[in-house]
Amino acid sequence: MDRLDKILVSQNVGSRKDVQKLIKDGAVCVNGECIKQPQHKVNAVADDITVSGQPLLYSKYVYIMMNKPGGVLSASNDKRAETVVDLLPEDFKRPGLFPAGRLDKDTEGLLIVTNDGEFAHNMLSPKKHIEKKYIARLDGIITDEMISAFEKGIVFTDGTHCMPAKLEIDGEDPSKTTAVVTICEGKFHQVKKMFAVCGKNVVHLKRISIGDLYLDSNLPIGECKMLSELDKMSIFMGKMH
Ligand code: URA
Repeated sequence: MDRLDKILVSQNVGSRKDVQKLIKDGAVCVNGECIKQPQHKVNAVADDITVSGQPLLYSKYVYIMMNKPGGVLSASNDKRAETVVDLLPEDFKRPGLFPAGRLDKDTEGLLIVTNDGEFAHNMLSPKKHIEKKYIARLDGIITDEMISAFEKGIVFTDGTHCMPAKLEIDGEDPSKTTAVVTICEGKFHQVKKMFAVCGKNVVHLKRISIGDLYLDSNLPIGECKMLSELDKMSIFMGKMH
């Protein structure tokens, strides 16, 4: 059981102040009865709640696909820089949203934003070995030696071992400087550091998939969409090992 005003805020009906006014104005009913106390306790799943006559379709958690632009922090809030949560459209916003996994500030592409901690934990757990695919543009040519070094598992200069990864040349790039990289872990700056070990700099990085969930090619940079149940499930498919 939770406070009525808290539930309405969690469903993005409005700010705490807005929903308290709505309740006091008599716009909110629970099981057919008009409730005027914001602190009234309700069961968000079992009780029928209406706001101005419209049923509230309660969902505890949301799962959002964002096509992250460069220049935006993978964080919920930051005093100085714009964050991915700042970028969400107003009707997607609700308390507790955070990016499930980080992309560097300059990295673009697929990012999941959710308020479901357990889901994020499962998605990010190194034990789950969920594949992440990136397109990386380099400042030099991809060689066979690099491909086999990725396959064996890159070792960073500090001795950290990476799991075997797949490095392919993007077939659409005749200059052989664009790579498709598949990794199944998420170490800090992992892709950039793996290429650095091979003497190459990443000049542009974009994530295109997590598990079998691909960035929607119709989703413009900086925009978002809600994930379907099927989308969510596909994240946990496509494991490497
Ligand atoms: N690897 C990186 O180096 N940066 C990212 O943002 C993601 C993976």
